[in-house]
Amino acid sequence: MTSRRRPGSLLRNLTFVIACLSPFVQAQSHETSAPSEAAVQQRANTLLHHMTTDEKIGQLTQLFYQYFPDTVSFEERIRKGQVGSFLFITDPVAINHLQHVAVEESRMHIPLLIGFDVIHGFRTTFPVPLALASSWDPSLIEHVQTVAAHEASAAGVRWAFTPMVDIARDPRWGRIVEGAGEDPYLDAAVTRAQVRGLQGPYLGSPEHVLACVKHFAAYGAADGGRDYDSSYVSEDLLRNVYFPPFHAAIDAGVGSVMSAYMDLNDVPASGNTFLLQQVLRKEWGFSGFVVSDAFAVQDLTTHGFASDPQEATYRAFSAGVNMDMGSKTYLANLGNLIEDKKLSTAQLDNMVRPVLEAKIRLGLFEHPYVDVAQTEAVLKAPESRALARLAAQRTAVLLRNESHTLPLSKSLSSLALIGPLANVQKPLQGPWSFAGEPKDVVTILQGLRNKLPASTRIEYAQGTDLKREYQNDDNTGSDAEIEKAVQTAMHADATVLVLGELDDMSGEAASRSSLDLAGRQQRLLEAVAATGKPLVLVLVNGRPLNISWAAAHVSTILDVWYPGIEGGNAVADLLFGDANPGGKLTFSWPRSEDQIPIYYAHNLTHVPETSKDFVSRYWDGPSSPLYPFGYGLNYTSFAISNLKLSHRQVGAGERVEASVDVENTGSKAGDEVVQLYIHQRSGSASRPVRQLKGFRRITLAPGGKTTLSFALGKDELSYWSPSTQAWVEEPAEFDVWVGEDSTASLHDTFTVHP
Ligand code: NOJ
Repeated sequence: MTSRRRPGSLLRNLTFVIACLSPFVQAQSHETSAPSEAAVQQRANTLLHHMTTDEKIGQLTQLFYQYFPDTVSFEERIRKGQVGSFLFITDPVAINHLQHVAVEESRMHIPLLIGFDVIHGFRTTFPVPLALASSWDPSLIEHVQTVAAHEASAAGVRWAFTPMVDIARDPRWGRIVEGAGEDPYLDAAVTRAQVRGLQGPYLGSPEHVLACVKHFAAYGAADGGRDYDSSYVSEDLLRNVYFPPFHAAIDAGVGSVMSAYMDLNDVPASGNTFLLQQVLRKEWGFSGFVVSDAFAVQDLTTHGFASDPQEATYRAFSAGVNMDMGSKTYLANLGNLIEDKKLSTAQLDNMVRPVLEAKIRLGLFEHPYVDVAQTEAVLKAPESRALARLAAQRTAVLLRNESHTLPLSKSLSSLALIGPLANVQKPLQGPWSFAGEPKDVVTILQGLRNKLPASTRIEYAQGTDLKREYQNDDNTGSDAEIEKAVQTAMHADATVLVLGELDDMSGEAASRSSLDLAGRQQRLLEAVAATGKPLVLVLVNGRPLNISWAAAHVSTILDVWYPGIEGGNAVADLLFGDANPGGKLTFSWPRSEDQIPIYYAHNLTHVPETSKDFVSRYWDGPSSPLYPFGYGLNYTSFAISNLKLSHRQVGAGERVEASVDVENTGSKAGDEVVQLYIHQRSGSASRPVRQLKGFRRITLAPGGKTTLSFALGKDELSYWSPSTQAWVEEPAEFDVWVGEDSTASLHDTFTVHP
């Protein structure tokens, strides 16, 4: 690096210390309320005033603490002000040490911001995000992220790279597991809950962290579901489908945004001015900071977008990426660009300011250290495990229960437990569980043992091995293992067969070309089903799998996703009726990968769907999914009736209230997720056949009845029209449906007039 501005004079430094002290004093109230905007800005400006160019660039530099060795020691870099943030460090003692060097031994005494992928828990691993969304329960999700934030901050991690809000309509894409599924309305609700949980009532709330919404934007639209591949998404789809969850995060006050890796319409997201300037800052008024995804700045060269690291720096920086995650490209190149006047100091200050402001708001200047004596107690709090168990119960989706095999009776005398995921710990955590400890995970076998009396014989057989490896021939492996599993099933009153995916089969860099049950699992399934004994198929997975055979031949299927640390106990609760599944799908479950992409909010075609002469969509197979968006069964039954609209005609900007009666008509207490969908029949653009615009998860005792109402106003009735290039609420007739999933049939209409 070239030499740049010298540290200021002694007098200037003294002025700086005094200037910084007064906001420090004001910030004492930080424990219970946010410092004023003016105090934060003043303090950041004072710091900036005294920082050298190198020190400013340091604040825009985030380094990996693990995995990517450095030639210079971290301490030395910190002392020189070359680093503002670390990621992938979770040991509180090591964090305190680095903070000490930053606060005591660097010239500006600026604390570090420690970031980590706190995706679905920290030490306490909760169900994966796709599962959490399947709860359709924002208050549960908020609670989960509150606990995750508390644990992370107790270890000194004050920044979570969460929520991941990428809409995913191609489940071959491995990262579908990290998001909320296919629908922007549900995703936005889940996003708001996550931001509230992570950040608390205001940024800097005690025991909370800075959230980071990612990956901006349209990463989930990767061509062919291949991870990191280009996305080609029209502005219409961006604004109506892919952006709304991000916008919801900004409105909820999220403090940081992560730019995505992939090309969006041929411009890499981490050098994309339309995304990072036009939409994020100008239209949405985002005032926090943007961090690149890991190495994404440097990778602008691999993308073929920038000719060398200096150009990559220029383009990412000019587009609006404040912080360079991992690649040290800013560290090596920003100084030259400023010295050569290709970028100005004013531009640099504008990029550094929000980073400093975040540190100020988080109270890091007052409390840079973590109380190590307290950390373990927070990470081991029994209430957190209890919440993890509740979350795993509430996220499971019952896909089939034809002969009411579930719930199983606790008085059965023997149970066969079969499958490669039945007696494992780490896979139940799912991807992105680096701070969780696999040894703490309750396996499904253990969960069943905990649940059933000692007199119940539980026989376990693995049936087949499972590995993440390319296998185009399931003839590998031993038939003897399958035969043993079959015998185990034959000699038991009932069988629980646990199939699905290992934790490394979904997540980042874990896209699949096939949704088939990997390895010999399908063979095992068919062999066990052929015994004719009562069979419950439990799926552990991060995406819909090809279970069309099972859906036709196995009467009972329960999807528990990657259920987390308390997975085994929660699965046992669900199987034996101590918990009643109430989760619902957040995506349309395809019959096979041949149907992808498939989503419920598609448009109409030019011919009626029933036309025999000109068949819309496929003639050689169904165009409907195996299970629709919003679908999930229950151990009880509900009746939804009496749809009433408050108005048949409204003017633009006015509201219609839709109300329905919901009754538990079965014999068990249970939850229903009541969902409201609309369709705009005509307008300046074609609108989806249905769009979710309201939902509520409720619990009712047997015979219990309640009335729910949903408001439909400007927010719900507007969309971004590609014809007018603007958000519009148009005069039109609207359909309304309310029911248990996206095929709901309870229907009425109303009209919006000019
Ligand atoms: C890459 C992933 O895309 C992103 O989601 C994650 O936050 C960073 N790595 C840091 O681990």
